[in-house]
Amino acid sequence: MVEIAPPAVAAGTTVNDMLFSYYTLTVLGAIVISMIVYRIVISSVRHIRALTCLSNDSQRYFKMPNRTFGWIKQHLLYAPLLRSRHQEQMRIGPMKTGILPTRFQSLLLAGIITMNVVLCAYGIEWNGPITTKLEHLRNRSGTLAVVDMIPLVIMAGRNNPLIGWLDVSYDTFNLMHRWFGRIVASLAVSHGTVEITLIVITGRKTHTPGWESFSGTLKEVRFITFGLVALVAVCAIILTSWTAFRHAFYETFLHIHIALVSLVMAALWIHLDGLQQMTYLKAVISIWVIERLIRLASLIYRNVARGGANADVEILPGDAMLVTLRLVRPWTFKPGQHIFLTMPSIGLWTSHPFAIAWSDAPAQQLRPRDLEKGPQPSIQTTDTLALPQTSISLIIRRRAGFTQHLHRKALDTIDHRISLPAFVEGPYGGTQTLRSYGTVMLFAGGVGITHSVPFVRDLVAGYASGTVAAQRVLLVWIIRAPEHLEWIRPWMSTILSMPGRRDVLRIQLFITRPRSTKEIHSPSSTVQMFPGKPNVDALVAMESREQVGAMAVSVCGPGGLADDVRSAVRRRQGVRNVDFLEQGFGW
Ligand SMILES: Cc1cc2nc3c(=O)[nH]c(=O)nc-3n(C[C@H](O)[C@H](O)[C@H](O)COP(=O)(O)OP(=O)(O)OC[C@H]3O[C@@H](n4cnc5c(N)ncnc54)[C@H](O)[C@@H]3O)c2cc1C
Ligand SMILES: *[C@@H]1O[C@H](CO)[C@@H](O)[C@H](O)[C@H]1NC(C)=O
Repeated sequence: MVEIAPPAVAAGTTVNDMLFSYYTLTVLGAIVISMIVYRIVISSVRHIRALTCLSNDSQRYFKMPNRTFGWIKQHLLYAPLLRSRHQEQMRIGPMKTGILPTRFQSLLLAGIITMNVVLCAYGIEWNGPITTKLEHLRNRSGTLAVVDMIPLVIMAGRNNPLIGWLDVSYDTFNLMHRWFGRIVASLAVSHGTVEITLIVITGRKTHTPGWESFSGTLKEVRFITFGLVALVAVCAIILTSWTAFRHAFYETFLHIHIALVSLVMAALWIHLDGLQQMTYLKAVISIWVIERLIRLASLIYRNVARGGANADVEILPGDAMLVTLRLVRPWTFKPGQHIFLTMPSIGLWTSHPFAIAWSDAPAQQLRPRDLEKGPQPSIQTTDTLALPQTSISLIIRRRAGFTQHLHRKALDTIDHRISLPAFVEGPYGGTQTLRSYGTVMLFAGGVGITHSVPFVRDLVAGYASGTVAAQRVLLVWIIRAPEHLEWIRPWMSTILSMPGRRDVLRIQLFITRPRSTKEIHSPSSTVQMFPGKPNVDALVAMESREQVGAMAVSVCGPGGLADDVRSAVRRRQGVRNVDFLEQGFGW
């Protein structure tokens, strides 16, 4: 047990700085607990709403907004810090400089930064001798830097349990991770600067004061040497995490990041030897190791059996590929899930996230009666003893790295198909459901459609079986050229021929760069095609005028589209009960 002493009162008193790290942990814990409570309330509301709507077609009650909550959503939860930009990258010239947090995120961050500043300054005898002040400041900033590494490492993990508990996406945690990184680095820099100043002005007992005492101490005192190594590595982490670099060379960034983090941990291990703060370092390292072990376990479980998983890659028009993965284990498929794909022959050990666009595994709660109508072959396996071999499909858009190598490899074959060994890790995500909304709008930009298709399928099937609230579903897909329609053609035909589809689902396709107007023709009144970009605000307004029950508007696509949809949803707050859900494809 650690002894807790009250803050210093007299000059020269040693303060137990651990006390301040307990404050930090308590505050962060309180934030997590209140968010869990919020999450439980929201989920219960949605669940009750879904149940109520099943026996009540009008859903009139849920259509109307709660004024207060609407205001909070409009001005706090969904609002970008300034005007309308959140997901779209800030730029200086052509250079990406990062994204701005939302107002709620900013508020939380401002609170956490203030807390760190206050905890750094509180209880320090500002009237005492300069060296005592500096010593206190040094101890405090160092302790806080180490304790803040705990949330930092938790937020970096793919298997962060808080993602599910708080219903906060990995993207958001990633944004918070970057900010906590900046906080830790600022504390570390303060700690280092103060310590260097102290050594220079006091000479650390063995030297005469001055710069020579610093170089002398560096050579003699291991603890100081490794402190400096850690500090330099922390600064290097901040520099190499710069948005433009991270986006342009993601894999390089990731490898450098992990190497530098390991260096920091090793150096701190020596630096903190014998100090109470070592406990936190051990916690940080354990969390990281456990997260890696869970990933490894997932990889082994998903891939080691029956000769391993395999990926069939097929070239699609419009720079894309259809990747079908035959899995060796059963899989409970939920909309919104993604996996991490590793193909050693293409990208060695690197793993890339992809949304699961389709699965032939029976989706959760879909009844066989509904599924029989779809032209899917593998559902005949009703024998529960023989595990059906499930397969999942991805649509992968060609980019500049791994995806380009894969595309080239498949293109080089005669029939533009190739089968390669692959490793699947996951599933991740799939915590959100749209089943309690009477009206659902799904916006997809380009390959973002992979996120929407499973939700559409789930809602149409649920409508037929009477297990969801949805009465109106509108899918809006924005693509550059009509050939992109090929990506999901077979799945769309399956969905379009599902029972009850005509009553619940409408699709609007926007072709931004059609070669000729002849390409634009609407197959039916429920599947329409338009040239150009949609007027997002008008579409959302139109849909909300006809709204049945509560409405969800989801978006998966480029940052600009996400921001347009966000603005449109914010404008409807106070008029109707509308929720906004977004999924990003990058970080
Ligand atoms: C949850 C999620 C779901 C996704 N679903 C799809 C999908 O269904 N279809 C699709 O085509 N794309 C999807 N993506 C995007 C896809 O992961 C990237 O396009 C792909 O990893 C790029 O690989 P590359 O080496 O060719 O990229 P590069 O051309 O080197 O980089 C392109 C962009 O991808 C990002 N990126 C690169 N490697 C990774 C990585 N290992 N992890 C995370 N981001 C990376 C970079 O930041 C960069 O901005 C999804 C991304 C996420 C986060
Ligand atoms: C600072 O921390 C060191 C190491 O734990 C300790 O020896 C020293 O007394 C502390 N100084 C103050 C002023 O708290």
